Amino acid sequence: MPIENRGEAKLLTHALARHTLTELRSVETEQVAFRKGLVKLGRICGYEIIDGIMDTHYESVTTPLTETTGERVVGMDDVVIVNVLRAATPFVEGLLKAFPRARQGVISASRDEAAGMDDDGGFPITVDYTKLPEVTPEDTVVVADPMLATGSTMCTVLEAIQEMGDPERLLVLAAVSAPEGLVRLNEQFPDVDVLTVAIDDHLDDDGYIVPGLGDAGDRAFRTT
Ligand code: URA
Repeated sequence: MPIENRGEAKLLTHALARHTLTELRSVETEQVAFRKGLVKLGRICGYEIIDGIMDTHYESVTTPLTETTGERVVGMDDVVIVNVLRAATPFVEGLLKAFPRARQGVISASRDEAAGMDDDGGFPITVDYTKLPEVTPEDTVVVADPMLATGSTMCTVLEAIQEMGDPERLLVLAAVSAPEGLVRLNEQFPDVDVLTVAIDDHLDDDGYIVPGLGDAGDRAFRTT
């Protein structure tokens, strides 16, 4: 079963996804390998979305020898990928290998870590830049952020996306999710499907996922 229902999330269980996530978790994995690992994981997750979420239909195809029946994925041209800057950038690069014709949106939304966690376990979110394509009823929208921690950023992003239209499917894709973020997302957006490779244990006092993989943006971009 490539996608398993786990209450508030759908788990992408492909062995290569789990293997790649383990490499990303390791503190020994340096920047280039980390960034390439996120690209690889994005590609695997894209293929899993195609296999586990999207539909196929049969159609006739003429080969150089004869006519036969083939199968095509429905809606490959109706995919929107939203890059939640900045950690999602390499993750989206991988997703685009699975969905090369996707329309892309970008949102720069970041949490104010200096302000600290508020009483309900979230952070104040600053949105600096938003550029989203129009969303149609045929679209599959994939909002990618490798780390779903408190869920505050993702809820802000989803509010902006919902204003762009009503797609056929709205999916959140994270490499690692914290239970706290899944609860927040589920309460505020019960109709959104969250796909993730791992549901980790908890958030620490700074809002980092434990065991997690550290700061995905800093590790991919070699900043501190
Ligand atoms: N963002 C990250 O990059 N890592 C976390 O653990 C939480 C948020």
